[in-house]
Amino acid sequence: MKSDSGGSVSDAGGATGGLRGGLAAVGHTPLVRLGALVPEGAAEVWVKLEGGNPTGSYKDRMAISLVTRALERGDVRPGDTVVEYTGGSTGTALAFVAGVLGLKFTAVFSDAFSDSKRQAMEAFGATVLVEPSNGGMITTELAERMKQRAYAVAEGPGRFYADQFASPDVRPGYAPIGGEIAEALGGDLDVFCAAVGTGGALMGSLDGLLRAGVEPEVVTVEPAESPLLTTGVGGAHHVEGVAVFPDPPFLDRSVLSDVRVIAQDRAFEMCRRLARVEGVFGGGSTGLNVCAAIDLAVELGAGHRVVTISGDTGLKYLDGDIYG
Ligand SMILES: Cc1ncc(COP(=O)(O)O)c(C=O)c1O
Repeated sequence: MKSDSGGSVSDAGGATGGLRGGLAAVGHTPLVRLGALVPEGAAEVWVKLEGGNPTGSYKDRMAISLVTRALERGDVRPGDTVVEYTGGSTGTALAFVAGVLGLKFTAVFSDAFSDSKRQAMEAFGATVLVEPSNGGMITTELAERMKQRAYAVAEGPGRFYADQFASPDVRPGYAPIGGEIAEALGGDLDVFCAAVGTGGALMGSLDGLLRAGVEPEVVTVEPAESPLLTTGVGGAHHVEGVAVFPDPPFLDRSVLSDVRVIAQDRAFEMCRRLARVEGVFGGGSTGLNVCAAIDLAVELGAGHRVVTISGDTGLKYLDGDIYG
């Protein structure tokens, strides 16, 4: 099924003659309105529940786009090995997509990320190489080491480096998020807000919104422990997937009207309250996003709409320090 606006995941299915198996279940996720957690008199807060994708993350959308477009161009062939360095969500999505399309997948991972993500990658058939962290902390130095190792593994025939941090196929994978939001709300929203790692999901979603004729204000958010966008100085933190790059590769800062800074502890507390009060079960970036969205909603007041994303499911974090 194609959405009328913002494209569809099936746009990326050409080389495969349509999406098979679980690939056909990617996208068309629910958009829900928060209730009790939003103070009276505030704007409406809506959350796109991307944990509903087959591997529990919006990375499924990106992985389908990356792999099917590479197959179409002949950059990768069935039987080849896709390689990527990953905190686990992209790796799980790539393992899932690669497996269905007859490819192998090798992930460069680290013990700084949830062990359940390693297990999920392996469940989908990935080979997982673990780069040791310094005390479980996510740092730019660790990301650099993982990158160099992935480059080395991707050398040679029959290897394809997916390049989630630079590929032109990333943003189109996320555009349907924007199309689906526009469709669900009849184009009526004021602010779109989301934390960034690469910036792919935020920019791709915005592409979809703009294509549907919707021009919201765009706000991003980062953990106070790694305020890279607001100060240029990063730090160790535990919000997986975000606030790693000083200059997020897909982020065009000119589209941003603001960058919010939220303490990691507040974001994690929000995750727990979201689960218990709203029945919304997300990872750390979901807590960050919803804190910023509710703050914005309070500032805007009734009669407005703020939309944010729950990028993945809380089921990925049961062994971490959010729900543990
Ligand atoms: C849970 C989660 N939230 C947010 C992000 C950031 O997404 P992007 O890299 O598209 O900016 C990621 C990326 O890894 C993620 O895994």
